[in-house]
Amino acid sequence: MTRAYVSGTGYYVPERVVTNDDLAALMDTSDEWITERTGIKERRYVADGVGTTDVAIPAAEQALEAASLTVQDIDLIIFATSTPDYMAPGSGCLLQDRMGFPEIGALDIRVQCSGFVYGLSIADQYIRAGTFRHILLVGAEVQSTGLDLSDAGRDVGVIFGDGAGAAVISATEEERGVLSTHLHSEGKHAKELWSEVPASGRNPRISVEDVNEGRHWLKMNGREVFRHAVTRFPESIMEAITANGMTAKDVKLIIPHQANLRITMEVARRLKVPLERIHSNIDRYGNTTAASIPICLAEAVSDGTIQAGDHVVLVAFGSGFTWASAMIKW
Ligand code: COA
Repeated sequence: MTRAYVSGTGYYVPERVVTNDDLAALMDTSDEWITERTGIKERRYVADGVGTTDVAIPAAEQALEAASLTVQDIDLIIFATSTPDYMAPGSGCLLQDRMGFPEIGALDIRVQCSGFVYGLSIADQYIRAGTFRHILLVGAEVQSTGLDLSDAGRDVGVIFGDGAGAAVISATEEERGVLSTHLHSEGKHAKELWSEVPASGRNPRISVEDVNEGRHWLKMNGREVFRHAVTRFPESIMEAITANGMTAKDVKLIIPHQANLRITMEVARRLKVPLERIHSNIDRYGNTTAASIPICLAEAVSDGTIQAGDHVVLVAFGSGFTWASAMIKW
């Protein structure tokens, strides 16, 4: 039986470090408030003119190198982002061109914070079906250019950061790799975390008035997001565990989307899992949306936290609302 496994990982974050004190110079906030409510101490922002594909490239190059593959070996690009370079075309096409891939398929998926896990489920299906042998899966975001860094946007502005992670998903005949994936959505909550414009239902899609009234910024109902997240994360983790006839004790590492440290702590409490078994880097990078899980994965592989034979759960929740999990045997 053919299975999909992670044959290489990589990540990239921009050099510019933005601390909580840096944000406190722009808006009415403080290091104490941000740290206490989110666990974030700093995040990375791109330099002017740097877009999502730019941050994806070094992460993808690293993942290819770790997998000992070149662009010629890849059969499909899956690009997960909520902040594409343009409304059209997708960032996957830009990556195909910039990195010199052959004329392979390039698929953008817009599932916000759950994008990487959704992307993994797609890669898994193509590989199990025998259609492809090697797929490049990228999660990349430039959130900083969509944040209102004034007092009016302080609840959202302090949370998000920029970055990219990538993984090569390859075929194996061994008893390992992606064991199961689980996808969900509940679109009635779409406006709890969204950007209203540009919108296809408006003509023009974005107006001067929209910009003056701040409709282009990312907006969030923090309390609603928090309330749903602390239920969906544990539910989704347990879905992956029970689908494989396991218990939480069998899982070496849980890699949650880095939404907020308080959410992660609540998940640990509800599942009675020690915090050491839940990967966290939100203090350094903030919430990087679709990039957060592949960045964590690349960190956990490179620092040796994940070893051959370990069971790892990836789990995400975010705008949509969407949520998803995956069980991987390393
Ligand atoms: N600095 C200082 N004060 C802030 C602030 C900031 N950056 N952002 C909001 N506040 C203020 C609010 O204006 C409010 O003031 P008021 O009481 O005078 O009206 C006060 O802090 C409390 O606001 P509230 O929204 O009740 O805070 P909270 O305890 O819910 O925390 C979040 C806010 C955003 C940290 C929290 O709701 C949260 O973590 N939500 C989930 C966010 C998330 O994970 N998003 C990503 C999902 S993928």
